[in-house]
Amino acid sequence: MNLVEVQFEPAGKIVFVRPGTTLLAASEAAGVEIACGCRRGMCGTDTVRAEPADALQPPTDPERSTLERMGLDPAFRLSCSARVERGVVKVELGHF
Ligand code: FES
Repeated sequence: MNLVEVQFEPAGKIVFVRPGTTLLAASEAAGVEIACGCRRGMCGTDTVRAEPADALQPPTDPERSTLERMGLDPAFRLSCSARVERGVVKVELGHF
């Protein structure tokens, strides 16, 4: 199984995780703190910018609905819900 590289900015930390790992779990493995609340894709507390889109699994309905309610473009994802898929994922913190 190919691991996925997840890069966290501006912390400058990198971690390698299995496909299907959430960005929140990857951040915890990397020692990067992301503020979170519900952990169910509902509150939007843990929003980050994550690209490219094809390196992540598509958002689930609850995640998509929360991001739409917040008026955010598709580059933003909820850390507790967004799961990595392949390649290299760049995650930017600090937009909120
Ligand atoms: S912690 Fe609430 S949406 Fe992720």
